[in-house]
Amino acid sequence: MHGGVYTLFILTHNPEGKEESAQKKKEIRMVYAWIIVVAIFVAYGHYDRVHGTNNSNVIWRRLQEEENCNFYEGSWVRDESYPLYDSLACPNIDYQFDCLKYGRQDQNYLKYRWQPNNCDLPRFVIFYSKLRGKQIMFVGDSIGHDQWQSLVCLLHASAPESAVIQSDSEHASFHNFTIPGYGISVIFMRQQYLVDIDYEDKIGRVLKLDSIKNGELWKKMDILVFNTWFWWNRNDSGKPWDYIQNGDKIVKDMDRIEAFKLGLTTWVNWVNAEINPNKNKVFYQGITPSHWKGGEWNEPQVKNCSLETEPLSGSSYPSGLPPQVFIMEDILNKITKPFHLLNITTLSQLRKDAHPSIYNAHRTMDCLHWCVAGLPDTWNLLMYATLITDDN
Ligand SMILES: *[C@@H]1O[C@H](CO)[C@@H](O)[C@H](O)[C@H]1NC(C)=O
Ligand SMILES: *[C@@H]1O[C@H](CO)[C@@H](O)[C@H](O)[C@H]1NC(C)=O
Ligand SMILES: *[C@@H]1O[C@H](CO)[C@@H](O)[C@H](O)[C@H]1NC(C)=O
Ligand SMILES: *[C@@H]1O[C@H](CO)[C@@H](O)[C@H](O)[C@H]1NC(C)=O
Repeated sequence: MHGGVYTLFILTHNPEGKEESAQKKKEIRMVYAWIIVVAIFVAYGHYDRVHGTNNSNVIWRRLQEEENCNFYEGSWVRDESYPLYDSLACPNIDYQFDCLKYGRQDQNYLKYRWQPNNCDLPRFVIFYSKLRGKQIMFVGDSIGHDQWQSLVCLLHASAPESAVIQSDSEHASFHNFTIPGYGISVIFMRQQYLVDIDYEDKIGRVLKLDSIKNGELWKKMDILVFNTWFWWNRNDSGKPWDYIQNGDKIVKDMDRIEAFKLGLTTWVNWVNAEINPNKNKVFYQGITPSHWKGGEWNEPQVKNCSLETEPLSGSSYPSGLPPQVFIMEDILNKITKPFHLLNITTLSQLRKDAHPSIYNAHRTMDCLHWCVAGLPDTWNLLMYATLITDDN
């Protein structure tokens, strides 16, 4: 099926020769032969889809329905066909994620595929994907940026010859990667807390727990992927606000878990009031782990991810889920519109090997973000799987 569609694409894009000749007639015969080959491929693909022989998308859907496959329960298996693309051929990977470019030598971490227990994830295919003609926006912090970056590379690798338009705002708070030939735009909007930070005269930067001003733009998107967590805990000079406002009260600081709950609830209320399920598909990227404490995986002497070159085997992380997951789930349970939680926490916890460590432009130890190519590709495969099995 994939081969069939691809061939059709090449054919319709072949420039025509000018002169009429025997050579030309031979070419025409070749074209007819190709059309027959293509027709057989397409017919087979149709049969395949209807009868469910060996098309992985179909198998996935059937298992999802019949055996109640939970694709977040599984383990990492080695797969020599991975990674899904060569990151060195992907344009403009952010300096935080471009591990190969910045000298990472061990490449085992690129060779793992997520294997759900009862089904397979479908292949990522741009040609009949549900991404075609869509505007996809990631809103959140640098972990959302990480997933955006991976989706850009997956799309670029699927259509390497396509023209692209890429625009990046001055402070890297807005990135827009568009492939006009497919009508796809993938956008990242940095809004670490989802709620607003406004500059107020005399006070400075105010984190407004009950305000979301960018909703009108979000509503124009077909697919939205939100995330927020780790900035709520930050208390260093890098935090991007001076005061917190909740209702009429402006305070210098407050309990951060409380603030997180209030901010995320504001977002939930926005979803309930504003999302149109016929237009907007909403994803929430579950909390992703960092790997600074080897004790979590039974190696208490380990203090960072620099020597980690293999994932953990099995399906569970020794120290279990981080407590903030349960706080987040409690709040997300109040969503009344269709939405999908990308429940990536456990499968990411198993990937202590997938962080950049020092392989970034600044050579700082980073056990929070993730290399691209790498783990975020799987987050996107999970999102893709959800989209193609939705509303058929
Ligand atoms: C997310 O996945 C983990 C591990 O499979 C599971 O324990 C947890 O209950 C799931 N959470 C939700 C909300 O489905
Ligand atoms: C992204 O860029 C494309 C191509 O320039 C443009 O058509 C589209 O409106 C942009 N999307 C947003 C949300 O800015
Ligand atoms: C953050 O730092 C300020 C100033 O040192 C302190 O007053 C406040 O309690 C700290 N907040 C948290 C959540 O650690
Ligand atoms: C990271 O861990 C290694 C080995 O445990 C240690 O030698 C190194 O000093 C640590 N580096 C940083 C920046 O924490």
